[in-house]
Amino acid sequence: MEHPIILAIESSCDDTGAAVMAGGKILANVVASQQVHELYGGVVPELASRAHQQHILPVVQAALQKAGVQKEDLDAIAFTQGPGLLGSLLVGGMFAKSFALALGKPLLAVNHMRAHILAHFIEEPRPEFPFLCLTVSGGHTQLVVVRSALHMEIVGQTQDDAAGEAFDKTAKLLGLPYPGGPRLDKLAQQGNPLRFPFPVNQMPGYDFSFSGVKTAVMYFLRQQTQQNPQFIEENLPDLCASIQHTILQTLMRQLRRAAADFNLTNIAIAGGVAANSGLRAELQRLAEDHDWRVFIPAFQYCTDNAGMIAMAAHFQYLAGDFASQLASPDPRLKL
Ligand code: KG4
Ligand code: ZN
Repeated sequence: MEHPIILAIESSCDDTGAAVMAGGKILANVVASQQVHELYGGVVPELASRAHQQHILPVVQAALQKAGVQKEDLDAIAFTQGPGLLGSLLVGGMFAKSFALALGKPLLAVNHMRAHILAHFIEEPRPEFPFLCLTVSGGHTQLVVVRSALHMEIVGQTQDDAAGEAFDKTAKLLGLPYPGGPRLDKLAQQGNPLRFPFPVNQMPGYDFSFSGVKTAVMYFLRQQTQQNPQFIEENLPDLCASIQHTILQTLMRQLRRAAADFNLTNIAIAGGVAANSGLRAELQRLAEDHDWRVFIPAFQYCTDNAGMIAMAAHFQYLAGDFASQLASPDPRLKL
């Protein structure tokens, strides 16, 4: 088996993940998702950390078993240091530190947002440096110029809600269950994106803002349902398509401008929202217009997973960037 053999643990939000990587190749990538949050229409931090405690041991055991790796064979243990929910990060971090201490193995502390970007190196085709990455998830929206596996620079980010949050919150206004993003995407495929024009936010530079769409949709629905209580049910696909169109316009405007200004043609997207079918279609269209090479990781490496943590940890291992037992979780860890 190729070295280094790394066990990576991800627990930044509501998915408990463990992955085993050998020589940069994934041998196992296990994730346990938490259903409990659906009842509340969003992630409840306290419930998330309790569920991590229940899942972490079986998830790690499953990953080692699936990979056919004995714990003694591991070269290092990696964990997500941040950003994320403090209670959730603590569970994965403490587990990783204890395991590393017990086994006498080195530790690697990984930045979750870097890992989302480095997920592009798990499988072919891999982008060439430098490239531009749009990371869009339930917690983050960032435009990053990636110069190497270890050197990245945020050039734009959201000033309020994340793109995934914008999908989830507007979906909630339409009465769709949490997380509404994927459901809104599905309904949007049968709707007319130009039927209800909502304002597209025009932020200066390469930043994003999504609170305007949410408020516009809220007032629009309130006004329409006063006149016709069945308005939402009667227009659901068109509403979904119009909302999705507005969110994507906001994302694509800044992506296009940053790509042009930084003269980058390798364009990558990362994070859970990369699963959005409209986003994928729009990117392919832009790729043809601008001669871009577009990179979208496999779905299992877009949503939160430990495989991406292992990939980032692999690069850190090669660079000798190890953490000490004093490394503590940082909910606001910067890129
Ligand atoms: O990366 P991720 O799994 O977790 C975070 O780190 O947040 O992203 C989850 C987010 C949720 O907001 C979810 O609604 C959104 O990604 N999402 C989608 C789609 N699939 C997942 N949003 C729009 N369309 C989709 N198909
Ligand atoms: Zn994430």
